[in-house]
Amino acid sequence: MITRVLITGANAGLGKEAAKQIAAYPDIEKIYLGCRNRDKAEAAKMALEQQTGKHIFEIIQLDVSDLSSVRSAVQQLPESIDALIMNAGGTGGKQFNKLNKQGVTEIFAVNLLGHSVLTEELIKAQKLTQVALYAGSEAARGVKEMGMKRPELNTSSVEEFAAICDGSFYGSTTDATIPYGPIKYMGALWMSAMARRHPQLKFITMSPGATTGTDGFNSLSFIKQYVMKSMMQVMLWLGKVHKVEEGAKRYLTGLFDEELKSGTFYASQKGLTGPIGDQAELFKDLNNQQYQDNAYQAIQRFV
Ligand SMILES: NC(=O)c1ccc[n+]([C@@H]2O[C@H](COP(=O)([O-])OP(=O)(O)OC[C@H]3O[C@@H](n4cnc5c(N)ncnc54)[C@H](OP(=O)(O)O)[C@@H]3O)[C@@H](O)[C@H]2O)c1
Repeated sequence: MITRVLITGANAGLGKEAAKQIAAYPDIEKIYLGCRNRDKAEAAKMALEQQTGKHIFEIIQLDVSDLSSVRSAVQQLPESIDALIMNAGGTGGKQFNKLNKQGVTEIFAVNLLGHSVLTEELIKAQKLTQVALYAGSEAARGVKEMGMKRPELNTSSVEEFAAICDGSFYGSTTDATIPYGPIKYMGALWMSAMARRHPQLKFITMSPGATTGTDGFNSLSFIKQYVMKSMMQVMLWLGKVHKVEEGAKRYLTGLFDEELKSGTFYASQKGLTGPIGDQAELFKDLNNQQYQDNAYQAIQRFV
């Protein structure tokens, strides 16, 4: 039974909505809001308490792009959690391509490196008991509708995955949507590798699907933001994307649906919304255990 959950990036968008929906489950005793900004976290906590009428939310100060913050968050956590939702992420801010102390790009640090250390540290401290859920994206298998190509690697070696971590794989691009897909692809591979390493836990990669009403595109360049948001609006009218309630519901499916298999990446079967399915049926590289292990090892180089 899941009673305690930690959600990263829980002060906005999908993370906050997921916190609200999870709170409605009668067995839930505590939801930790893992947030980097204390003021935004306090505001989210207050709003969640008002919306749900429950006082089960607690803030954990956590910046996933800063490994010392990640490690201290694990220490601060006063008890074990049953489920972790690795939701923080997105396009990595204005300086998404800048290298950090570990030598990875900001967009990689936010979407993957911090979460990989968070998960490993929780396991080491015996503070994660059942499910780890990673926010994937259809961009990991390519999204024709939004002009995002399927990640194309030459060798899928450890070196090539390491080049995704430090950004050298794509060079000095100013478009954050270019590294985003390959990083989410690596995230799904890493989760599958973790599932084999830790069979006592369930590792689910779940894309919330194309979701409007979040701040997800706000740090892109003005023009790119305009293009992406206009495209999303048109797609919402056409029924090809969904609202935040629907996107967050997918996280809950990942947590509570016992039919879902550990190590699998679930996202829209077709396009960016609608029923979910195993993405390895669309992109078979996701099932390649050597690629999964290579992605895992590349991440270890920067920890
Ligand atoms: N929206 C979509 O269509 C879509 C589709 C597929 C996948 N996803 C994935 O779903 C997740 C949530 O997206 P969203 O659309 O809800 O985005 P959002 O509205 O921008 O929310 C992102 C959340 O992550 C937090 N965050 C960012 N960097 C962080 C850091 N370094 N440490 C801690 N928290 C951090 C943000 O906090 P601040 O308020 O402090 O910035 C915010 O709470 C992302 O991983 C995204 O890649 C989204």
